[in-house]
Amino acid sequence: MDLITKAPKGTADLTPAQTAKWRWAERTLISEAELNGFAEIRVPAFEHTELFQRGMGDVTDVVEKQMYTFEDKAGRSVTLRPEGTAGVVRAMLENGLYNAGYPVKLYYNMPCYRYEKPQAGRMREFRTFGVEMFGAAEPAADAQLIAMALSAFRRMGLHDVGLQLNSIGCPACRKEYHQALKGYFSARKEGLCPTCLSRLDKNPMRILDCKSPDCQAIAAGAPKITDYLCEDCKAHFSQVQACLTALGIEFTLDSGLVRGLDYYTRTVFEFPSKSLGFALGGGGRYDGLVEQIGGSPTPALGFGLGMDRLMLALEEQKVEFPEPVKAEVFIAAMGDEAQIKALSLVNALHTCGVPADCDVCGRGLKAQMKYAGKIGAKYSLVLGGDELAAGKAQLKRMSDGTTREISIGGSFIEEYTAISAEQELGL
Ligand code: HAM
Repeated sequence: MDLITKAPKGTADLTPAQTAKWRWAERTLISEAELNGFAEIRVPAFEHTELFQRGMGDVTDVVEKQMYTFEDKAGRSVTLRPEGTAGVVRAMLENGLYNAGYPVKLYYNMPCYRYEKPQAGRMREFRTFGVEMFGAAEPAADAQLIAMALSAFRRMGLHDVGLQLNSIGCPACRKEYHQALKGYFSARKEGLCPTCLSRLDKNPMRILDCKSPDCQAIAAGAPKITDYLCEDCKAHFSQVQACLTALGIEFTLDSGLVRGLDYYTRTVFEFPSKSLGFALGGGGRYDGLVEQIGGSPTPALGFGLGMDRLMLALEEQKVEFPEPVKAEVFIAAMGDEAQIKALSLVNALHTCGVPADCDVCGRGLKAQMKYAGKIGAKYSLVLGGDELAAGKAQLKRMSDGTTREISIGGSFIEEYTAISAEQELGL
């Protein structure tokens, strides 16, 4: 095929066979979020660039290297959202959602954009399912959020997801930590990559998540944030762990886990997939971000799951996805008059919520019946001149070929409902 162009690098089409699986996973996540009192928010795909620069931190990989930023026709700098949190915080404030009382609990499911080198689980357009909770300062909120994600993984049949946990403290305890890091890395400057060298003064914590093997080797011996936590941050972290333990949730403490974005405070966590070897998602507290974006000081926390990665993990774990329902009833018709009748019966079934279909390709009867089998119809009904004249037809159960007479007149729906209910009960 001679296409004028292919999908851009780092993007993926989701075909119907995939979207059926995606929707099942998304429905599980949504139902878990709603069970926990979260409601959906939708925000724009692009925002003014400064929201992400200020929100995520201008000395981060995402902001420095990965944003899709451009000037619009009026000369304003706008950026395709590289993540959900900053936009959701802005929207929560701009729409005064805090007026309804705390905690404000929001979830979203959205494509995000990062200019990255595409590889397995790393795309330029990727989908994130995320949740954000505002106004909840207690460690119980951290545990509730983590438990919710793990419960959704379990409900999907995903059993190889771990939990890595750390606390990166608050600005007060981080001041001393930054000094310690600066001292440590300054003494090892020669081994650092140019990006890390440039971060040494402005943001030494970012050196801890540099991907260069040389920087990683140096970072392995760096001072640990957990040795610098203030009393309040220590108490918060130990209570988060106590809550998780009480909920029977296993976790690994990882003092090297700092996350790649600047807004985090205190608890940070990731959900590594053991079989894939990378994180399906991550999140944490960001108690300073709401104020930084222009609101009143508000404790907040959340997580984001990479849907593309989650789907890879589900496939890898050979999770059984439910079969999508294409049509419960297929009505085959011969001739124009029968086709009109088929359309109206299909329509009547739809109004009662029964998935139903009929031929619209001008196929012969044999081909129509073959199609009914292909789409997995539970019942078929053949309409021709005889059936129209008698006002009756044979409803055939496709699994065993048994038939039941059914009116195709005014009582069609009542009779169909009664027959299918009987057969459901095995009568
Ligand atoms: P993040 O760790 O940068 O956090 O992204 C969240 C998840 O999105 C990652 O764990 C990963 O599964 C997925 N992800 C990120 N980049 C890509 C990519 N290029 N291709 C495929 N998947 C990707 C955040 O974005 C935070 N906003 C999460 C959060 C919400 N923290 C608090 N609230």
